[in-house]
Amino acid sequence: MKYSISLFSLLLIISCATPVEELNTSVVIPEIANTSSGEDEISLAKEWVTVAPDISDRLLETLASQVTELGIEISKKEEGSGNLILNLDDTLDAESYRLGVSEEHIEITGGSEAGVFYAWQTLRQLLYNHLWSEETWRAVDLSDTAKYIYRGYMLDVSRHFFNVETIKSVIDQISLYKINHLHLHLSDDQGWRIEIKSWPELTTTGGATEVGGSEGGYLTQEDYKELQRYAQERFITIVPEIDIPGHTNAALASYAELNCDGKATELYTGIEVGFSTLCAEKEVTYTFLSDVFTELAELTEGPYLHIGGDESHVTSDEDYVKIVDFALEKVIALGKTPIGWDEIANANLDERGISQYWASSENTSLAASKKASVIISPAAHAYLDMQYDSLTPLGLHWAGYLPVKKSYDWNPETLVEELDPEQIIGIEAPLWSETLENLQDIEYMTFPRLPGLAEIAWSTKDRRSWEAYKQILERHIEWFEKKGINTYKSLE
Ligand code: ACM
Repeated sequence: MKYSISLFSLLLIISCATPVEELNTSVVIPEIANTSSGEDEISLAKEWVTVAPDISDRLLETLASQVTELGIEISKKEEGSGNLILNLDDTLDAESYRLGVSEEHIEITGGSEAGVFYAWQTLRQLLYNHLWSEETWRAVDLSDTAKYIYRGYMLDVSRHFFNVETIKSVIDQISLYKINHLHLHLSDDQGWRIEIKSWPELTTTGGATEVGGSEGGYLTQEDYKELQRYAQERFITIVPEIDIPGHTNAALASYAELNCDGKATELYTGIEVGFSTLCAEKEVTYTFLSDVFTELAELTEGPYLHIGGDESHVTSDEDYVKIVDFALEKVIALGKTPIGWDEIANANLDERGISQYWASSENTSLAASKKASVIISPAAHAYLDMQYDSLTPLGLHWAGYLPVKKSYDWNPETLVEELDPEQIIGIEAPLWSETLENLQDIEYMTFPRLPGLAEIAWSTKDRRSWEAYKQILERHIEWFEKKGINTYKSLE
């Protein structure tokens, strides 16, 4: 142990003395905590043999599936030695890892299987760099650890519906950047997208259409479980959102009794917000919320349920507090942690809940004063549906244009006054889908901004240089093109 610590310190000293431009590890996004790289060229074998008694076959299959595009094949031996060594070391944090590449072997040690998986994402990028950008394959030794426990991406499947296959593609793409939460915005005015067996009309009626009036769709509970399994294999936790008390027209169109006047609304296919509300004075509202959150909690393996709470412009303050308080307590009683958009600070939020900052630093300061944890998703820096500039054919710009530099060059710890950085559990990059109809549209708004947001969420390095990052990102853009990902290309 002593030997390995002193060797590690030596490597650190070497790494500090070597200009970062010379290291092939500098191409990795998010930036790695500690790294050193040898000078000499080594050769890359494409058949990897592993003996990994601590690693599940399921993980090995996932890892193997992520390098087939590079022509690398992995086989497993029961005993002896191999050129791919995968270890667990529970003295490391669960998501931390060490990665060493030498002429003889590749060795990965994770604090848990998640750490092994994140080492793999680093390795994949080194492989793209070698095989696709034709850089020398050199020995490296590095160790890495996550800054935030919550590194999120949100997909709005309500304004336009995206099916299981599309969502799986998104999961694959975001996993390369060590994102570990996928927030699914499952209900809104334009569509209810998750099957709730006790309220079947929510999907059969409320899921029938989408923005623009074309056919909608929804995830069955089996689809949701399948997505959860697929995401979990990539160490991504699904965070389901049912947005209440506003953004509820799809539910109000499905069940007349949820409306204060007892009349079902029309399905909505436009993109206005803030016109719908659940009815605080009706008992059935609370039965509905209770049934929906109970089914969702039973389905959901992760710890969080998102209750929305944003833009309830036609709900009185008193009604808002009554409905949101009910939802907060219900979710907690179901054994889950509630998350809501920053407006939920105006209800009786406390240290058991999480506020997601998107628009109001005032609301976020209020949440912080109530001891809630905070996820940082400022629309002006992190909303992936904001147009890059005035010529962007997709997206909106109500929070301003969001060029790639602006999505990278900001500090989550200084945006909100009176927020102790210790209260921040992470960053999320939301993608709203009013203008997005398919995977290619999703990709165009996500890439290349997501890698920078993932770096803010993962990297423990606080000094960031846009000029240096931009050169690295250009290389990732080349890789996206090789992968057939539809990428926006201007970094100016
Ligand atoms: C939001 O963008 N309405 C949370």
